[in-house]
Amino acid sequence: MDLRALRSIFPSRSGQLDAQQATQAAPKTAPTVVDPGCGGAACAGVIDETLKLAATRIASLEAMAPEGEPWTGWRQFEVVNRIEEADHQVTFELRASDGQPIPGYKPGQFLTVALDIQGEREERCYSLSDSPQADVYRITIKRVLSQADGVPAGKVSNFIHDQLGVGTTIDVKTPAGEFVLDMAKTTAAVFLAGGVGVTPFLAMLNMIADMGSQREVHLYYAVNKTSELMRGRELRELAARHPNIKVTFVVSNPAPNEQPGARFDKVGRIGIGTLVETLPKGNYDFFMCGPTPMMAALTEQLISAGVSHRNIHTESFGVAPTKGAGTSPAERARGVEDIAVEVHFVGAGKTLAWDPGKGSLLEAGLAEGIALNSMCRSGSCKGCQCTLESGKVEYPNGDPGVPTGKVLPCVAVPLAGEPVVINETIVRSQA
Ligand SMILES: Cc1cc2nc3c(=O)[nH]c(=O)nc-3n(C[C@H](O)[C@H](O)[C@H](O)COP(=O)(O)OP(=O)(O)OC[C@H]3O[C@@H](n4cnc5c(N)ncnc54)[C@H](O)[C@@H]3O)c2cc1C
Ligand code: FES
Repeated sequence: MDLRALRSIFPSRSGQLDAQQATQAAPKTAPTVVDPGCGGAACAGVIDETLKLAATRIASLEAMAPEGEPWTGWRQFEVVNRIEEADHQVTFELRASDGQPIPGYKPGQFLTVALDIQGEREERCYSLSDSPQADVYRITIKRVLSQADGVPAGKVSNFIHDQLGVGTTIDVKTPAGEFVLDMAKTTAAVFLAGGVGVTPFLAMLNMIADMGSQREVHLYYAVNKTSELMRGRELRELAARHPNIKVTFVVSNPAPNEQPGARFDKVGRIGIGTLVETLPKGNYDFFMCGPTPMMAALTEQLISAGVSHRNIHTESFGVAPTKGAGTSPAERARGVEDIAVEVHFVGAGKTLAWDPGKGSLLEAGLAEGIALNSMCRSGSCKGCQCTLESGKVEYPNGDPGVPTGKVLPCVAVPLAGEPVVINETIVRSQA
């Protein structure tokens, strides 16, 4: 791959001013107010009509805007609609059971839901898959099938698919998350979605369309089979109505009789080659959400192409594998696998001997019956954050951005040396 060719497409190392980008991204497709051939009274009529339409649109957007306040802890929601979207992917519309207004959210944020399954309370995160609506939240959940013999299928996603119908209720936490599209920015954006990782982008794209934003956005959406493409037609229509929105569907295993065309655009996977081939020259903010290997490969390729880390934003849906991680990269390199570290959980008054086979501090704590919050289990929701009173930890899958003196047990393992002391009581009182 010729790096110079790549740099000509991604010249920015992020230092460019938004004002400059605004000039590039803006009025390419400014709202058509006046027909070029229009003049006099006829022209005034067109303007009047357009202004009326704009006013109606703003009024309807205002009517749709949610008005509630964020809440603390759990709130009960009822499933009011269930929409089968694509292979194993179902959208649930949720309305607050108390009938009170619900707060809005930033596109890209998620809900944490809790369910009692076989006597155990389980919590998971699901991205909001639409722009804010007046009184419902939409989330879209993929059924996680067993990937190999002896590996259990996903507990919560299967329960939700099998048991959650219209009229059933579910506990929900207020919208949260930092993987969001800043609607005030004008930098052109590239959304790289793999499978169900498209959900936060559905919210972002619909928000851009609802607000009449002229921001240039390119969605690349990869799936394995065409039957897995969710809201394909809706996305095509959105792009047809909004020239600033482009969508490219990439399918890795189409059926032998399926060719690129109306349903999908490319065969294969999203890679830097796809972007070089299809993206106009410019400065972009990259957002990605999909399987870990896809995000790791794309991040590496973008960095090699000169894109700054600051312009790459990622959301991980997966559980980060920490089991078997050593105690530090240096110790792993020396092959030290059996170091035990004492971990005290102050709130529970319990001490355990951690070793790499016990996985993350969360996994180790839960196995000892310690009541720790566990929602995303990937460092995204910050819901498991505890106080690190003493000792040192590391994050084998990268630092998720934890404030000093705090720890995210779901993605942390102890560093060998002094004992680790965690105070988890603050977290439990928030639940
Ligand atoms: C911020 C965020 C947003 C998200 N948004 C969405 C969304 O919009 N839509 C969506 O569908 N998902 C989303 N997710 C993922 C979601 O939260 C769940 O992780 C997902 O539904 C799987 O949960 P589960 O209980 O079905 O699977 P789990 O039971 O948690 O299993 C997870 C994986 O581990 C495997 N596994 C389970 N037990 C074992 C074992 N003993 N040994 C080996 N492997 C095992 C399972 O086969 C599965 O592949 C999001 C996650 C995050 C963090
Ligand atoms: S459970 Fe979400 S950050 Fe740890």
